Amino acid sequence: MTLSLPSPPSPPLLSPSGQGDALPHPPAIARQGELRVLLVEDNRSHAEVVEQVLREGGIRFSIERVETGPAFREKLELHPPDLILSDYALPSFDGLAALTIAKDKTPDVPFIFVTGTMGEEVAIETLKKGATDYVLKTRLARLVPSVQRALREAAERRERQRAEEQLRRSHEQLRALTSYLQYVREEERTRIAREVHDELGQSLTGLKMDLAWIAGQLAKNGRTLLQKVKTMSSDIDATIQTVRRIATELRPGILDNLGLVAAIEWQANEFQTRTGITCTVASTVTDTLWDEDFSTAFFRIFQETLTNIIRHANATRVEVELSEQDGCLILIVKDNGRGITEADVANTRSIGLIGMRERAALVGGEINFQGAPGHGTIVTVRIPLPVRRD
Ligand SMILES: Nc1ncnc2c1ncn2[C@@H]1O[C@H](COP(=O)(O)OP(=O)(O)OP(=O)(O)O)[C@@H](O)[C@H]1O
Ligand SMILES: [Mg+2]
Repeated sequence: MTLSLPSPPSPPLLSPSGQGDALPHPPAIARQGELRVLLVEDNRSHAEVVEQVLREGGIRFSIERVETGPAFREKLELHPPDLILSDYALPSFDGLAALTIAKDKTPDVPFIFVTGTMGEEVAIETLKKGATDYVLKTRLARLVPSVQRALREAAERRERQRAEEQLRRSHEQLRALTSYLQYVREEERTRIAREVHDELGQSLTGLKMDLAWIAGQLAKNGRTLLQKVKTMSSDIDATIQTVRRIATELRPGILDNLGLVAAIEWQANEFQTRTGITCTVASTVTDTLWDEDFSTAFFRIFQETLTNIIRHANATRVEVELSEQDGCLILIVKDNGRGITEADVANTRSIGLIGMRERAALVGGEINFQGAPGHGTIVTVRIPLPVRRD
């Protein structure tokens, strides 16, 4: 076969058809440094022509030539190139096999066939299998533009991958931060709850006992004093109740001691007492001492759901259902209020809903909000059950 060099060889680097494969800019890689080319070619003089075309096209490169499968594989493993140029038909090796190896070992390195003949169907087949382009040896004027385009596309791909990786990493970091903040917040609440309950509660009880003693001493002489002490004592009773309430609101002890279902029933009852909205709980779940992260996530989501009902739903009735299905714990909260809208659900400012979603996601679960105007809202939480805590 005869090889035709482009004439004049450089520039312009247009394909003979004249339909601009040529780029408006010189290739970035040629300016930055040397391009490492791996050439799969058995014919030495063809290899020299290819080199000459690249050189005359203004590309700075170093080149290594291989002609067998093992040599090709070894080069890819030891010194992955920036570009692979490959003949299609070789005596002991073939282009498709080279392409398969290259896609396996260095999938991001552009692979261009530089070949004597290639039928349309074969060409399409190679492109489908991941070849970047093919250039016929009889139309080598296309080689440099093709290389330039391949390198530019590879650089763009790398940049895109880098951006995607960065995005993924920052999302992961946000997740970790959310998780950490929630953990810290919960720890803090538990600690304060314990302290308020134990320390304040105990000292108030102590005070009350002291007062009782004083009252005993005063009974004989001071009626007015006695009355005062009684008032103080009942004030302290009220304070003890308040302290208990604050501690429970911070972190209901029932969640840690009796488990999730009991805590949900208790919370529903509190809600009903406080708001006058009927709240029923139907549960088919019995075993409820799951690990703390899981129970806390579930419970806080439930609380947030009830808070939303108080604030937005204008409901008169709430039905809560708890069940187990396919290894998940499922909570359904239905209210008969005005109904959450799709806009509310999609709104990126619905921080409460986003927080609930994140909480569920952190323990591997999901949450769904569904509303019908005038017919209420259904919130469905589905979280995979953790291993039981014995
Ligand atoms: N049960 C419900 N019924 C009707 N609308 C609801 C219900 N729950 C939520 N919404 C709507 O969804 C919106 C978003 O709720 P989200 O909890 O994210 O925010 P919020 O409750 O307004 O504020 P916060 O950040 O304090 O929770 C609410 O403003 C409300 O319009
Ligand atoms: Mg809310």
